[in-house]
Amino acid sequence: MDEIKHREQVDLIREVFYYQSRFDGKTIVLKIDEPILQEPHFPQFMKDLAMLRATGIEIILVPGAKQWIDAVLKEYDITTVYHEGLRVASAEAIPFIRMAAFDVANRLMTLLTAFQANAVIGNFIRARGLGVLDGQDFEHTGKVEKILVEPLQKVLDQGMIPIFPCIGWNAAGKPYNLSSDEIALAVAEALQAEKLFFVNSSDGFMDSRFRLPDGLVKNSDGRVARLSLEEAEQVLKLNAGNTDDDLKYLELALAACRKGTERAHVVDGRLEGAILREIFSNLGVGTMVYGSEFESIRPMRATDIPEVLRLMQPLMEEGILLQRSQDDLLGLLADFVVYEIDGVVHACGALHAFPGKTDNEASQGEVAAIATNPTYSHLSMGRKILSFLTDKARRAGYGRVFALTTRTLDWFEQLGFTEAVLESLPEKKQKTYSHARKSRIFALDLKAGNIKS
Ligand SMILES: CC(C)(COP(=O)(O)OP(=O)(O)OC[C@H]1O[C@@H](n2cnc3c(N)ncnc32)[C@H](O)[C@@H]1OP(=O)(O)O)[C@@H](O)C(=O)NCCC(=O)NCCS
Repeated sequence: MDEIKHREQVDLIREVFYYQSRFDGKTIVLKIDEPILQEPHFPQFMKDLAMLRATGIEIILVPGAKQWIDAVLKEYDITTVYHEGLRVASAEAIPFIRMAAFDVANRLMTLLTAFQANAVIGNFIRARGLGVLDGQDFEHTGKVEKILVEPLQKVLDQGMIPIFPCIGWNAAGKPYNLSSDEIALAVAEALQAEKLFFVNSSDGFMDSRFRLPDGLVKNSDGRVARLSLEEAEQVLKLNAGNTDDDLKYLELALAACRKGTERAHVVDGRLEGAILREIFSNLGVGTMVYGSEFESIRPMRATDIPEVLRLMQPLMEEGILLQRSQDDLLGLLADFVVYEIDGVVHACGALHAFPGKTDNEASQGEVAAIATNPTYSHLSMGRKILSFLTDKARRAGYGRVFALTTRTLDWFEQLGFTEAVLESLPEKKQKTYSHARKSRIFALDLKAGNIKS
């Protein structure tokens, strides 16, 4: 047990190293809903961000301020109207809106200062008034015209954390109240950010809350872990008419990925360490929308061998898999495939060819060395690798695939393999069969179809 825990810890540290070097110098934008600022662990959240900045990751903060603006306006007895879901910032209200927005930004600045991070609240947005729409004059409510990338990049280069209150100015210095969501999206697009986070306080994409299509990858708590652009579109379509805020964030996340952000995440900020887990682990705790390829099964490369051996080592020690050295694997590069999630290898498998000796004898393939990272066992990687290998065998014209196994009989059976006799194996394999090991033989007739899903 200790040994397993130790391995898991080491795996986690490796994953952190991997992501750390990958995100070094890259930009992460966080839109933080204002209620999160009241959470007891919020100071720790900010400390984590200060630490991320210190390690070389560029951080940009866009705090929402809606609730605080409401409270300040109420305090001063000022009422504002809404049109099409947007607050109309009147001339009377804008000084108070500005005060509330900067107050929220200041709270972040104060915490960052306490954690020795340099932060700056700047005028990096050129804004424009919304004008009069459908007969409604929006007065001081505006939209982002452009992000002033050059001065923003300068402060990022100096190691500072820019904070964006929901206020922007036009070229003449007139202030406008802007949507923080829009600011976050515009900043992420302008800087082609690696990641954009919408940190909110909701339970996220669970079956119990939304209509979800089949086949989505979920975390162990049932939360949808990730969505391709097409899957995100499907979720939005299935839940059309539902006004839950999470769907608004999903729509924004989708828009961000379409505009060049690599990954956009909707994360429950009430969970302690949520951002660190979402950044440094393939599993995460929120829901991620990804624009570029995230997971794939591909041929093994020589550079994958250390990771493949790391997966196989404990299983070889237990006698579940045959012993293979680094040189063996180098010689078998063409047979092996790896399951990669976001650049990290989490499973492997091999298909060894046994060509038929005569034109009448069908070729056979041996599936072997299927190994998955136990931390990721709920992602069906083993089944997907097996399906990939049997497909590969069929495309190569093999008649059947077989596996020799001592401990995975039920698994192969469950997936449609049936027990077979030694004599049915290719002659060469019969000769090397270890009678001491007494492996059981399971085979799948490829003419009869693929493995059961
Ligand atoms: C067997 C193995 C590849 C399965 O991969 P996985 O990604 O963890 O899981 P899958 O999604 O493909 O399959 C999960 C199912 O298989 C079952 N399963 C896992 N290992 C099993 C085993 N040794 N025997 C029987 N069933 C097993 C699980 O209980 C689960 O059942 P469920 O779907 O009813 O909950 C993985 O457990 C592993 O690496 N095992 C050690 C190496 C090995 O035995 N390789 C096969 C010989 S080449």
